[in-house]
Amino acid sequence: MLMKNLLATKPVEPAPHVDAGEPVEGTLSGEASLKRVLTARQLVMLGIGAVIGAGIFVLTGQAAAHYAGPAVVLSFVIAGIACAFAGLCYAEFASMLPVSGSAYSYAYATLGEGVAWFIGWMLVLEYLFAASTVAVGWSGYLNSFLGLFGAALPDALASAPLAYSKGTLTFTGAIVNLPAVAIVAAITGLCYVGITQSAFVNSIIVAVKVAVILLFIAFSLQFVNVDNWAPFIPPAEEGGRYGWLGVLRAASIVFFAYIGFDAVSTAAGEAKNPQRDMPIGILGSLAICTLLYIIVSAVLTGLLPYSQLGTPKPVATALEAYPSLLWLKTLVEIGAIAGLSSVILVMLMGQPRIFYTMAKDGLLPRLFSRVHPKFRTPHVSTIIVGVIAATLAGLLPIGVLGDLVSMGTLLAFATVCVGVLVLRYTRPDLPRPFRVAFAPVVCTLGALACLTLFTMAFLDNWHWMSAWILVGIAVYFGYGYRHSRLRERANGAASAQPVVR
Ligand code: ALA
Repeated sequence: MLMKNLLATKPVEPAPHVDAGEPVEGTLSGEASLKRVLTARQLVMLGIGAVIGAGIFVLTGQAAAHYAGPAVVLSFVIAGIACAFAGLCYAEFASMLPVSGSAYSYAYATLGEGVAWFIGWMLVLEYLFAASTVAVGWSGYLNSFLGLFGAALPDALASAPLAYSKGTLTFTGAIVNLPAVAIVAAITGLCYVGITQSAFVNSIIVAVKVAVILLFIAFSLQFVNVDNWAPFIPPAEEGGRYGWLGVLRAASIVFFAYIGFDAVSTAAGEAKNPQRDMPIGILGSLAICTLLYIIVSAVLTGLLPYSQLGTPKPVATALEAYPSLLWLKTLVEIGAIAGLSSVILVMLMGQPRIFYTMAKDGLLPRLFSRVHPKFRTPHVSTIIVGVIAATLAGLLPIGVLGDLVSMGTLLAFATVCVGVLVLRYTRPDLPRPFRVAFAPVVCTLGALACLTLFTMAFLDNWHWMSAWILVGIAVYFGYGYRHSRLRERANGAASAQPVVR
């Protein structure tokens, strides 16, 4: 019985063609609904907004210095291929099922409620924890920028009161990471008042950060010293450093840089023409970011020997080595501050929409599915997510959460790849506005690539991940399992049968 319930899938019906302003799926009459206003361009911008952030501005240097050397370029290619496979699968699902729950909804339709809950729980790592992690990075960049004008906040107000090292949490003496809390609060306010406003602000920020990255590439290219690319893959050392193993470990680290293109799918309920525009938003943003990442990592490792790039701000570090490029450093800092803000924005938009969908399915309390009558946003979820994200960002250091974010995302991606394949066999009849070509190959390779990268990160972080999974199981059996709408409907239908007869 338990197994049957865990494997129960939510029936999928072909999505009718939807137009701007039409209510979102499953809206009860009389309730406010989300608004269909987003265009293809805005969706691509949302994807780029969520993707380009701490990954490229912080992790590239560390992955090169400690694991891959100049071959960090290959690590970006490997992670990019894994994401491309997953992106194609997301595009098929998002055009077929234009709902707000992303991988959670796709898993519910294909692999059953148990897996759906599990993936929903993993998505909390991806969205909520990513917002907090990136907010901590944002605070670091902001404070050092303020320092240029002698206005930096004291450490007690701009760093985490808790530190984690070798299995123990210790107090650092700091009070709170105030800028991290402030940025989460400000962005939560924006998400509360409207999707149109959020998408508009996101587009401006994205324009700034992409312009800064293009300037970096254009002006630094002439200083690239190809000698810095040799040896391209440094000889392997103990502890998985360098060699091919190091390239793979670096791929699992820089995977973080790609996280976010899938967040476009959480806006499927608010897209004007999801059947056509979801694939454009997901794949368009992924393609643009992959290209930029490969070029930036090649330029960065060409500017300085890789061993010198392991700093918290590798791009700035590389520029400091060239006096004639110093003017770019401040611009890069502005680009990073802008870049990180839009990542926080899109993550804080995505998480409440997943909670909204889970609550509509009864797996979370109903209040998560409330929609603001005027702003037409999931306002209660937005506030709850904002408060939790601000608390984590205000108290925890950045390192604790980063790998967990990647691991949660990788499991979600693998599930989406498997889900596409399952639905091809269980519902071949469904209209698929976008179809993955060579699905058995793409889906299998996508799932395997994501699971390999997951394993690389899991080996270092198994205890945190296992703890997160155990808490998820407790929450599901404590609430979701007992309130599932799917089961309520199934039980209702079963008890109604004798009357019908
Ligand atoms: N991809 C996002 C970043 O790099 C999460 O910040």
